[in-house]
Amino acid sequence: MSNIKLHDREFVRTISNEEIVAEVKRVAAAMNRDYAGKRPLLLGVLNGCFMFAAELMRNLDLECEVSFVKLSSYQGVDSTGAVREMLGLSESIAGRDVIIVEDIVDTGLTMKSMLETLEAGNPASVAIASLFVKPSRLQVPVTVKYSAFTIPDRFIVGYGLDYDGLGRNLPDVYDVVE
Ligand code: IMP
Repeated sequence: MSNIKLHDREFVRTISNEEIVAEVKRVAAAMNRDYAGKRPLLLGVLNGCFMFAAELMRNLDLECEVSFVKLSSYQGVDSTGAVREMLGLSESIAGRDVIIVEDIVDTGLTMKSMLETLEAGNPASVAIASLFVKPSRLQVPVTVKYSAFTIPDRFIVGYGLDYDGLGRNLPDVYDVVE
């Protein structure tokens, strides 16, 4: 058992970095097929997406661009239900094929708000890529076209995901020990 402690909570290692990298390669291969001949704009949602976005980009063999927005909805291990924009989109997405790159889709509220915002910019298409999806937690219908892992309702950290700011640097993924 390789348990770790972040703030007041204990976490147990559940997904290795090797498994994550293998799944991200699978997602990238699907994008390489789907976007052949196009030039998608990957739009990462900070802070949690940075490791996933980097691994995904290095496995794309298409012409592609990347940009980031910063949104926040979580406090500790719970969703607040309100999505705050901390840093907005700086470029035009009119006519672009946009791929949102998210760390985890939980209630779906962040993606709903993001899709509504992007719609107003008249993109050619918008797809969601998320490293993790917790389908049992969804409060609004959201279609995640590219997901690496589907997980049950549990709080995870590592590989970009945090518990109150800590744990983002961990190469593996850990579950909270209740
Ligand atoms: P949603 O709006 O509820 O779908 O939440 C999305 C955001 O909540 C993610 O981008 C994460 O920042 C955060 N989040 C949701 N579940 C977890 C988790 O298990 N660990 C860490 N962050 C999470």
